[in-house]
Amino acid sequence: MGKDIYEVLVSREEIENKVRELAKQISNDYDGKKAVLIGILKGGFVFLADLIRQLDISVEIDFMVVSSYGNSTESSGNVKIIKDIDIDVSDKNVIIVEDLVDTGITLRCLKDLFLTRSPASVKICTIFDKPSRRKVDIHIDYDGIIIPDEFVVGYGLDYAEKYRNLPELCIINLDKD
Ligand code: IMP
Ligand code: MG
Repeated sequence: MGKDIYEVLVSREEIENKVRELAKQISNDYDGKKAVLIGILKGGFVFLADLIRQLDISVEIDFMVVSSYGNSTESSGNVKIIKDIDIDVSDKNVIIVEDLVDTGITLRCLKDLFLTRSPASVKICTIFDKPSRRKVDIHIDYDGIIIPDEFVVGYGLDYAEKYRNLPELCIINLDKD
């Protein structure tokens, strides 16, 4: 197997600045309130870990394991919940924390699911967004860095489970493999 070729699309510094900005917005909006942050695994764990350390509100953390892509770079349009949260979110302020919004199918499904669990509110926060790929209507309350229609890896995002550990967001060029 040849080496996957990649180039940096979003630097470490740009990511850090955006995380700080989003954390500030959330801390302001939830001032004096509590929130439950739900990290979407696997990709969302790096962003969630950085985000919570910049928040000055009281938070609870939980995780959901969701799968839609398998080992391909195209969404199957099928969202499978592999692990659900343990926390009861009724009457709580839920913030779903995602690595990247692409077609929007994952977040549309997750938001609809959380809305059935009698929360006080459900909001969505993502560190990266590819709006040109959207297939369903979904409002992103805390929108991160807008990126072009390229397959990206790093900062939690993978290709076939690789490259999650890259500190920047990189474009992977599978054609040159
Ligand atoms: P959506 O349901 O199409 O919005 O896709 C959501 C999930 O697909 C994201 O949270 C990512 O985990 C994954 N995904 C979408 N685009 C990429 C990409 O370019 N690289 C790696 N994962 C991606
Ligand atoms: Mg994801």
